[in-house]
Parts: sequence; structure tokens; C-alpha cells
Amino acid sequence: MVPKVGSQLFPLAFIFRRLHSLTGLFISLFLIQHLYVNSQAALFLGDDGKSFISSVNDIHSIPYLPLIEITLLAIPILIHIWWGILYVRTAKFNSLSSDGSAPSLPNYPRNHAFTWQRITSWILLFAIIAHVVHMRFIRYPEEVENGYAVELVQDPGIDSLAKRLDVKLEPQNGQIRAVAPDFGTAELLVVREAFKSPLIMALYTIFVLAACFHGFNGVWTFMISWGITISERSQKSFSIVTNGVMVAVAFLGLTAIYLTYWINLYE
Ligand code: HEM
Repeated sequence: MVPKVGSQLFPLAFIFRRLHSLTGLFISLFLIQHLYVNSQAALFLGDDGKSFISSVNDIHSIPYLPLIEITLLAIPILIHIWWGILYVRTAKFNSLSSDGSAPSLPNYPRNHAFTWQRITSWILLFAIIAHVVHMRFIRYPEEVENGYAVELVQDPGIDSLAKRLDVKLEPQNGQIRAVAPDFGTAELLVVREAFKSPLIMALYTIFVLAACFHGFNGVWTFMISWGITISERSQKSFSIVTNGVMVAVAFLGLTAIYLTYWINLYE
């Protein structure tokens, strides 16, 4: 007989744990794709962000994109956050110093990882909300008759870059209104504009480091939760993989933050 959902053999709390865990893995895979695409604005020096533009245009041309964004991105993130908040609020740390009223076992690195997994949860909660509001609502390119428009502030490189990318610039109330021929180019200008600011660069640095630690420390614990890495040896070996991916993906994210404006698209 198949156990019923909600029964003792298949309790709802167990299902929610698994759902939280699966959505965590899914968002971590999305993080790899997202930071890889963003790094293309910076890594291919001298190509004026062409690879970034074509990747963003490819994504933007996917049919029913808003539906896909809601079902494959917003809903999994919301599920993960909903149960994440519950788990993080009920967590008890044992890596901190204590007056004896609670266990204190700071010598075990995994206890510190447990604490950081929860600290980064709070950072990510606020950072994800701010990021979505910033990029999806405040700075989202506006579709106009001959392309996509964004507001920019004058800088030393914008005139020559606009010529190379076929972007029209119009002065407007002390700012510039840029009309890009396609969505990808408009997004490149938005990202370049954001990473001019040292404050935004500092906030995004914390965001990227928190996301990479949380995501790939999480993939390591995911493998244990699902019974894939059971022996100590397999867990040790897999930590080399997850730590390696953590560093590589953080490198891609930091590259986008530090090199997009200041190195690749400054002039
Ligand atoms: C960039 C965004 C995020 C990614 C990539 C991500 C990824 C993950 C992954 C892969 C796991 C491991 C699941 C497992 O052990 O089976 C995890 C665990 C966890 N996540 Fe997230 N997560 C993100 C955002 C958040 C947010 C915003 C919160 C809450 C506000 C949160 C709360 C948690 C908690 C509490 C755990 C530990 C669950 C446990 O081991 O009991 N996460 N996350």
C-alpha cells in the first residue's frame, strides 16, 4: 500500500523538508547560470559585452518567459524562503561561546558551517528582495518604439561605447536617456551603470559571497540529506567538488561586479 501524504509514514513536515531541499538545489543551479551570464559582461575583454548581450537576448526570446520566470524561479524561491524562515527561526547554534546554558562546540568546522548557513539566510532574504526590486522593477529597461530605453548618468566612456553598441543617447534633466537597439544591450548598460557605484559594488559583493557559500555548502548538505554521500570518505571527496564550484561561481560573480565598468566597459 502506498503511504498517504500526511500519514505517519509520510508526514507533511518530512515532505516540506524535502521540498525546501530540492528547491535549494534548483536555485543553486540557477545561481551558476546567472553568474556565468553576468560574468560575460566583464570576462571577454575588448568584446564590448557582446557575449552578455547575446546570452540575455537568447533568454529574452524564450516564449512565455514571464510564465517560466514565475513557475521555475519565483515559486521555487518563495517555497525555499517560506520554509527557510521557519527553519532558521527554530535553529539552535552550537559554534558560539556560551555561559554553559547552551552547548558550545566551536572546534568542529561543520558547526560553524551550520551557523553561517543560517546567517547567510538572513542576508540573502534581504538581498534577494532588494535585487529583484532594483533590477526587475526600478532599473528594468522600458520598451519603446525603436528599442529599449534606460536612464544613465554621464561618464567618461559612455559616448564611445554608445557608438560601438549602436545606442542613441539623449540628454534629459541632467541625465542621459539611452535607447538601445535590443533588450540585451539595454541590460548591459543597466549592469554597467550599477557597478559604477562603490556602494552597490560592496553590497553585491556581500550578496554574491553569501549566495555562493549558502548555495554550495547547501548542495553539500543536500547530498547527505538525500542519502547520496553516506560514508565519511564520500562526504570529504564531495566537499572538494562543492568548495571548488563555490570558489568558481564566486569568481564569476565578483568578476561581473569589479570588471564590468572599471575594466571592460570604462571607455
Ligand atoms: C541564493 C539563494 C539561495 C540558494 C541558492 C539556496 C540554496 C540552499 C541549498 C542548496 C540548501 C541545502 C538544502 C539541503 O540541505 O538539503 C539550503 C538550505 C537552507 N536554506 Fe537556502 N538558498 C537560498 C536562499 C535562502 C533564503 C533567502 C533563506 C531563508 C530566509 C534560506 C534558508 C535556508 C535554510 C534555513 C537552510 C537549511 C535547511 C536545513 O538544513 O535544515 N535559503 N539553501
